[in-house]
Amino acid sequence: MPNAYISGTGYYVPPRRVTNDELVTEYRIDTSNEWIVQRTGIEERRFADAGVSCSDLALKASEMAIRNAGIDKKAIEMIIFATLSPDQHFPGSGCFLQEKLGLCDGDSATFVPALDIRNQCSGFLYGLATADSMIKSGAVKHVLLVGAEVHSAAIDLTTRGRNVSTLFGDGAGVVVVSATDADRGVRRWNLGADGRNADKLHMRIWDISKRPYIPLDESGNGCMLPEMMYPNMNGKAVFKHAVERMISVLLKTLGDVNQSLNDVDLFLFHQANLRINQFIQQQLGVPEEKFFHNIQRYGNTTAGTIPILLAEAEENGRLKPGMKVAIVVFGSGFTWGCALIDW
Ligand SMILES: CC(C)(COP(=O)(O)OP(=O)(O)OC[C@H]1O[C@@H](n2cnc3c(N)ncnc32)[C@H](O)[C@@H]1OP(=O)(O)O)[C@@H](O)C(=O)NCCC(=O)NCCS
Repeated sequence: MPNAYISGTGYYVPPRRVTNDELVTEYRIDTSNEWIVQRTGIEERRFADAGVSCSDLALKASEMAIRNAGIDKKAIEMIIFATLSPDQHFPGSGCFLQEKLGLCDGDSATFVPALDIRNQCSGFLYGLATADSMIKSGAVKHVLLVGAEVHSAAIDLTTRGRNVSTLFGDGAGVVVVSATDADRGVRRWNLGADGRNADKLHMRIWDISKRPYIPLDESGNGCMLPEMMYPNMNGKAVFKHAVERMISVLLKTLGDVNQSLNDVDLFLFHQANLRINQFIQQQLGVPEEKFFHNIQRYGNTTAGTIPILLAEAEENGRLKPGMKVAIVVFGSGFTWGCALIDW
C-alpha cells in the first residue's frame, strides 16, 4: 500500500489589506484595534475585490502548489475543494477550478473528478483524510486538495455583525497529495463531529423546509433577512468546545501511534483565534516555538487556514523534510480533526 504525502504547497491571498482600524474608519463598525487584538490576535485580513470568486483564489494557489510539486497539471487525478463560500450554491467550486486550470482543454483533457467538501473550518482536514484514503486504496496518485474562502462578500460588515465579521478574511491554500513508496507522509488522522451544536455557528442562507425556501416580498421577489444572510455565532460556546475538542483529538491521535507531544516538531492549529491556540499550548505545556501562526495577518480563512500555514511554513523554512507535524482543526458543525504527518 502506498503512503500519501504532501508533494507541493501553494497559497494566494488577495492584495487588499484591511486593518482593524479600517474596519472602524471604512466600514463604520463600532469596534477597535485594541478589542480585536486583545481577544483574537488578529491585526489585519485580506478582502477580495468584487468579481473575484473562491475558485479564482484557488486557481492561483493551485498553480503554485502544482509547480512546487514538480508535476504537470494533467497528472492531477482528482480535485477536492473545501469551502463554505463556494462560487455558487451549485455546482461545486471544484468544477469551476477544474475548468479554470485547463483540465478540460484540448485532446489531453482529463475531466478528473471534482469533489466539494462542506466541513467549514475542518474542511481541509476532512479533505486530507479523503485524499489519503483515495491514495492508499490505489485509486489515484495525485490529488489537488484546496481550502479556499471569500468571506468578505458574505459577512455582516456593520456593527450588527461585528462579533463575526471582525474575525474572518479571504484566502486560498492548496496542496498536492501524492502517492509514494517512501516511509513518510500522513501517518494517522482522526475526525469528529457533534451536530447537537450546529446552531452555535451557522449560516442558514436558505431554509429548504420552507415553501418557498426564502421569503418573498409583495412583488414575488426573494427577500433575504440579515439573520439568514450572514453567519451567526455563539462565540463563548465555540471557544469552550474548541479548546476541549482540539486537545482531546490531538492527544487521541498521538496515542494511536504511541507518540507524545514531545515527538512533534511543529504544531499547525486552525487559525480561528490566537487566544484559543495559546490557551491550548499553555494547557498542554508545549513550547511556543513549536507553533506557527499567521492569523495576525489573515484572520480566519476557514478551510484555507491550514494549507496557507503549510505553504508559508515551507516557504519560510519553518517546515522541513523529516519533521513531524501535528495539524489540529475545529469548526462549525461542530466538526474537528487531527492529522499527523511525517514531512
Ligand atoms: C468572538 C469572541 C472574540 C468574542 O469574545 P467574547 O468575550 O466572548 O465576547 P461576547 O461575544 O460575549 O461579547 C461581549 C461584548 O463585546 C461585544 N463585541 C462583540 N464583538 C465585538 C467587536 N468585534 N468589537 C467590539 N465589541 C464587540 C459584544 O457585542 C458584547 O457587548 P455587550 O456586552 O454590550 O452585549 C470570542 O467569543 C471568540 O473568539 N470565540 C471563538 C470564536 C471562533 O473561534 N470562531 C471561529 C470558530 S471556527
